[in-house]
Amino acid sequence: MKHLVVLTGAGISAESGIATFRDKNGLWNQVDAMQLASVSGFRRNRALALEFYNARRAQLATVHPNHAHEVLAQLERDYRVSIITQNVDDLHERAGSTNVLHLHGELTKVTGMNNPNNPDCITTKPLTEPILLGDKAADGSQMRPFVVLFGEPVPQMTRAMQIVESADIMVIIGTSLVVYPAANLLNEVPWRAPRYVIDPNVVADADTLGFTHIAAKATEGIDQLVEQLNAL
Ligand code: OAD
Repeated sequence: MKHLVVLTGAGISAESGIATFRDKNGLWNQVDAMQLASVSGFRRNRALALEFYNARRAQLATVHPNHAHEVLAQLERDYRVSIITQNVDDLHERAGSTNVLHLHGELTKVTGMNNPNNPDCITTKPLTEPILLGDKAADGSQMRPFVVLFGEPVPQMTRAMQIVESADIMVIIGTSLVVYPAANLLNEVPWRAPRYVIDPNVVADADTLGFTHIAAKATEGIDQLVEQLNAL
């Protein structure tokens, strides 16, 4: 089976009701990312940062995968599918995808402030249970969401690079590709691999690297993608 590698961003979950970050109604146009989602913001005001993530966790419990997540899961019948997602939601998994790498962490999991990538500190916590000040991880430090904050490294990048390097077909869905190091993955796509980007807007870097632009929302673009894949 051909290796189909899919890099997803906030746009794939937009039609499930989760806000993107940089569109007109995007999260980072409404709240201060540096205050709520950075290492220094967390240090300055833990309560405020936890409140922000607790709200995102609670909202995630109320939404569902959409047609685009579902079709990607179904493509496992015909392809070896690897999904690399920048999203912290679990909608790919809920739709049935079995091979998902989360570059920026997962809202369904929690860890500790002091050693966020220590496997002993990472556990799952029901989305409807808020993380409270005083809740502790296994190492005794304050519990926090298992998400990559601004200012932190992205430990899964090496694995992600290896996956992209072995792509027979590359697909990008719903990401502005402005966040590094994730955006560097574009440069690892083998030159022979057919490549597609699904996004209602032009994604400049993908454009210059020869991606076929399917200019549509994810739930419509995904069906156009399947048609194009069937014609390969
Ligand atoms: P952005 O908000 O930067 O980009 C969202 C992209 O989705 C844009 O290119 C939109 O045009 C596109 N889009 C909007 N609606 C869509 C739809 N219905 N179908 C398909 N595409 C649609 O989000 P990301 O690129 O995912 O990181 O942002 C990357 C990272 O920045 C996030 O993982 C997050 C954020 O800071 C961290 O929190 C560490």
